[in-house]
Amino acid sequence: MALSIGVPRETEAGEARVALVPDVADRLLATVDGLEVRVEEGAGNGAYHTDADYEAAGCSVVDREQAFAADVLVKVAGPSNDEIELLGDGQVLIGLMDPLGAPERAQALAERGVTTLAMELVPRISRAQKLDALSAMSSIGGYRAAILAAERLPKFFPLLTTAAGTVRPARVLVLGAGVAGLQAIATAKRLGAKVFGYDIREPTREEVESLGASFVELEVDIEGDQDESGYAEELEKEKQERQPELLKPHIAEADVVISTALIPGRPAPLLINENAVEAMDPGSVIVDLAAPNGGNCAYTETGEEIVEHNVQILGPTNLPAEMPVHASELYAKTVVAMIEEGLADGTFAPDFEDQIFADSCLTRDGEVRNERVRGLLEPEEKDA
Ligand code: NAI
Repeated sequence: MALSIGVPRETEAGEARVALVPDVADRLLATVDGLEVRVEEGAGNGAYHTDADYEAAGCSVVDREQAFAADVLVKVAGPSNDEIELLGDGQVLIGLMDPLGAPERAQALAERGVTTLAMELVPRISRAQKLDALSAMSSIGGYRAAILAAERLPKFFPLLTTAAGTVRPARVLVLGAGVAGLQAIATAKRLGAKVFGYDIREPTREEVESLGASFVELEVDIEGDQDESGYAEELEKEKQERQPELLKPHIAEADVVISTALIPGRPAPLLINENAVEAMDPGSVIVDLAAPNGGNCAYTETGEEIVEHNVQILGPTNLPAEMPVHASELYAKTVVAMIEEGLADGTFAPDFEDQIFADSCLTRDGEVRNERVRGLLEPEEKDA
């Protein structure tokens, strides 16, 4: 039987992205015989793609129920409880499932018999780079964070020489130099700021410096390990406690701090304490990209913009959704790369022995397949 792919309209508040854009759908339709792409009415509106654009690309525009009845569902955000109710045995769901943040969602999907592939769990191996949705979205987050900071800062970013005098460039400190941090550094640099980068993983020094920023050296060496995927491992408790005080003088000198430090599956490390915020100049800006994981700044309120000690502290939760055209396009490419990887004779039949599918498989055959997610669910199971 011919394969059908469903593209529902995203319903999470503020989510303007769509999981498949017309251009990317068009290319997939051209390569898979008999494929049907069912797009829910209005699904592309937030990303400026009309129903007519999808139809012109060869997709069918359908109602919500029909979209949810497809063999393979592609989504951006993980499904709500109502959406999970629409899914059933044998269906495949691909999306950003927040597996470690929302383990109960995985449990519910497993109970419905859904095969779930979580884009966050795609292994970071070179063969899977084209499926790396996290990097694509982090990069957008980093770019937007720098733009947001520049817009909020009551100062220029670049050095400016005018008849009225010379303005010194803003000092931007980026904490965490992973994908988002490096993009924030590159963007702040292009806007003319004096940029500093900091991370606990030693290999980041070279990356920070290659972007023309200075690497921040702490007075006492605090270096962390990274696992085989390149993710940071949590620092020992004693180092964790010293880090904010050691960073304080560097934060105090910054006009802008963009913080991006994360440890997968752990609360975000505290890097900016109350004293450090107090030591910043009035009007300074902190953009805390770690806000969804509790934040790197002691004052961060997730999803809010607040002012403490005359410093603006922003805790955005979904900056990629604020740039929905490119975010949807790049996300769609990673999702389609995953579909193509699992195609066999015109159907979606992934090989779960293959590392890409073994790792990204969140639920299958009525079970939660990811060990860490199962570990998070177990205490609840014991209580039950
Ligand atoms: P992330 O979003 O999990 O973390 C962001 C950054 O925070 C990391 O660089 C981490 O070292 C840093 N960090 C954690 N705790 C910190 C602390 N206490 N103080 C300061 N910094 C701290 O990581 P992201 O950006 O998703 O990726 C991290 C790395 O993974 C990349 O830089 C790269 O080396 C690797 N990677 C590999 C890919 C591949 O092979 N396909 C693709 C993408 C990333």
